[in-house]
Amino acid sequence: MTELGENLLRRASALVDGAMREYMDHRRWAGAPPRLMEAMAYSLFAGGKRFRPALVIGACEAAGGAYAAALPAACAVEMIHTYSLIHDDLPAMDNDDLRRGRPTLHRAFDEATAILAGDTLLTLAFDALAECGSLEMVRELARAAGPTGMAGGQVLDMEAEKSPPDLDGLVRLHRMKTGALIRASVRLGAMAARADDEMMRAFTCYGEAIGLAFQIMDDILDVTGDTEKMGKAAGRDAARQKTTYPTLVGLEQSQRLADQAAQDAVNAISEMPGNAVKSLCSLAWYVVRREC
Ligand code: IPE
Ligand code: IPE
Ligand code: MG
Ligand code: MG
Ligand code: MG
Repeated sequence: MTELGENLLRRASALVDGAMREYMDHRRWAGAPPRLMEAMAYSLFAGGKRFRPALVIGACEAAGGAYAAALPAACAVEMIHTYSLIHDDLPAMDNDDLRRGRPTLHRAFDEATAILAGDTLLTLAFDALAECGSLEMVRELARAAGPTGMAGGQVLDMEAEKSPPDLDGLVRLHRMKTGALIRASVRLGAMAARADDEMMRAFTCYGEAIGLAFQIMDDILDVTGDTEKMGKAAGRDAARQKTTYPTLVGLEQSQRLADQAAQDAVNAISEMPGNAVKSLCSLAWYVVRREC
């Protein structure tokens, strides 16, 4: 059930890694401080799952496009995502020591470098995305990463450490901090393929549902996951007394809700023609079965 999705992840990883290596090549950025370039590469090429690039490429292909049209957008979302992880791990936020199987960037380098590497990845994401030549796509990514998307969600996440939200509040927080970029990944892929409005609506529903499923599973894995497999420490949410799906509704109900969200994602696109849609459906099941 998850095989096609895992194939898509592998393919997207290879494509986006190749494109990002080329993009980050020091010859392109002659004059940049080598330490800054090294810090960005340290976090970018540490073996993330490349889930968001898989969504960009998968949605582009499901909408009838060629992956090359979506590749700059796939790199851009991965750069934004990596920047968000670097900053999320800082002492001022989740204060974590392990990420993608390595010491976090501020541990391996220093805090100032981690902040600046994050800032630079955020900036370069839009430079990379400019390659698509679409202002609509630039705006899509900016909105997903901005105050009503990821960055705003991270603010709510920090506030939630002080005043714990109820389930509605947590859903809102999750939709913003993680859901917005995942939704945008799907929509950017569809935009690169010039999907029509009806298709865009279906992809948007898929993106919203798979985004929720993804963060519910992230919460579950913090309780049940293996540090080695995940490449980040388990039990960190409990240590910081974060409100999560498992703390609000328990592990079993959390898994049921994640499965339901995956089913909603599949239902949104399953009527679309073509084989590439099957990979996106399979990716939804992968999300709720994953171990890392
Ligand atoms: C972890 O994201 C942080 C969240 C937004 C939940 P991923 O689980 O996609 O992390 P990588 O990219 O594989 O390291
Ligand atoms: C991070 O959420 C979300 C973003 C980085 C935007 P988490 O704090 O739950 O992610 P992990 O568990 O550290 O990967
Ligand atoms: Mg966090
Ligand atoms: Mg964190
Ligand atoms: Mg987490």
